[in-house]
Amino acid sequence: MADKMLTRRDFIRRSAAGAAGAGYFLNGKWVPLEAAPVVPKPASPADRVNLAFIGVGIRGHILTNAAIATGQANLVVACDTYQGHLDRSKETTDGKIDTCFCQYKSVLDRKDIDAVIIATPDHWHLPMVLDALAAGKDVYIEKPMTHRIEDGPKMIEAAKRYNRVVQVGSQGRSSALQKKAREIVASGQVGQITKIVASYNRNSSTGAWNYPIPPDLRDGVNFNWKEWLGSAPEHPFDPERVFRYRKYWDYSGGITTDLFVHLITSIHFIMDVKMPCSVVATGGILRWKDGREVPDTLDALFEYDGFNINMASTFNNASTAEQGMQFLGTDGSLVLGGSSLSLSPEKHREGYQYSIDSWPKALQEQFWNEGEHRAESKPNAKWEGSNVTDEADAVPVHMAEFFECVRSRKECSENAEVGHYAASAGHMVNISYRAGKKVSWDMASGEAKV
Ligand SMILES: NC(=O)c1ccc[n+]([C@@H]2O[C@H](COP(=O)([O-])OP(=O)(O)OC[C@H]3O[C@@H](n4cnc5c(N)ncnc54)[C@H](O)[C@@H]3O)[C@@H](O)[C@H]2O)c1
Repeated sequence: MADKMLTRRDFIRRSAAGAAGAGYFLNGKWVPLEAAPVVPKPASPADRVNLAFIGVGIRGHILTNAAIATGQANLVVACDTYQGHLDRSKETTDGKIDTCFCQYKSVLDRKDIDAVIIATPDHWHLPMVLDALAAGKDVYIEKPMTHRIEDGPKMIEAAKRYNRVVQVGSQGRSSALQKKAREIVASGQVGQITKIVASYNRNSSTGAWNYPIPPDLRDGVNFNWKEWLGSAPEHPFDPERVFRYRKYWDYSGGITTDLFVHLITSIHFIMDVKMPCSVVATGGILRWKDGREVPDTLDALFEYDGFNINMASTFNNASTAEQGMQFLGTDGSLVLGGSSLSLSPEKHREGYQYSIDSWPKALQEQFWNEGEHRAESKPNAKWEGSNVTDEADAVPVHMAEFFECVRSRKECSENAEVGHYAASAGHMVNISYRAGKKVSWDMASGEAKV
């Protein structure tokens, strides 16, 4: 992710380059890809959003840089349960940010804070979002918005009750490529899409979440295990759980909530849908038998109204796209990688010869001379293929939208409802995997039923 960290100047330069060069062919015509919406000019000090961070680990650090890149916020205070992450926060902001060890509620009590960025492990999302909303703060909450399906309606209700803005942090949908993909699908260019194939694969120990543990970590000295654990089940202090929490059900949903939620959010956006009707999943701990509880290999089939998704992840091999989505339509395929979009036409071709070869020659000849049979058996496509790459980072764009909504009081594009549905579709995968059964979604009650 380090190469994705941009200064504001880098960000605007890259977006501008995207504007000049990128595009795609539609019916033989070059259609330029609009640049990722460029973040607005730096706001005047009075217009800047006064920002607090809760959780400045891996993601919080990236978001700190993104907030700086937007030029739209004053970075006022960062709170964390590990002093090392707070020290890094100071470094990143040239010593300007206040730091707060462990007392996130005292940060929420501060009257000089407008909005809060929450980037803590998943088990903390519900209490922190509810506390922040009740304290009158607007909230940027990292994905997955929820740790359990039932958390979502509580957050949606609180956002409404306190009239606060919520943006969930699956930034992909703010990228120019995904916006263009949504337009292409809606235009009908790729025809009827009945199948989507999506994957997230890795082949390294760090890819399987065995992140390095800082050697200075000492509970009661520069870290607070009790505060990190919060309302999660009691457990003796274990640095492995702190820095590799994605391996344990108490704090994470593993592949589903770490990786699938990104794919689901993007697919919901591009296909303009809310929820699957059903999900069935299978998987296991096939390679990384290191004490983890969550699977390292997961295959899920989602059934939506009119199309299916085949979503898969393995931590054993990354030779196919590390991250990708293929939207397979009757007239073409739209393939999205991390920073590329390709469109390839389906070559329609009827395979008549295969079935009529057993006919007498004269009958075959008669068939070929009837109607359009000869033309239909030649490969034919309605349009030419094309390829677009766009390296612009969507994170500052996604965050700039949040800051704009904080000022305008408009809904964010990835509001609490969007975040709830994306996370819930992910939770259905885990419910199915753990129960060994197909899970259905009841839209009326908002419940997953095994
Ligand atoms: N949008 C993305 O692309 C993306 C990428 C990575 C992570 N994430 C999400 O960000 C979140 C954090 O992930 P991460 O990789 O940064 O984890 P991390 O462990 O590196 O960071 C989490 C931080 O939260 C702190 N924390 C825990 N409890 C706290 C408390 N009570 N008060 C204050 N701080 C507390 C921890 O000390 C740690 O520094 C997760 O929900 C993850 O899914 C999103």
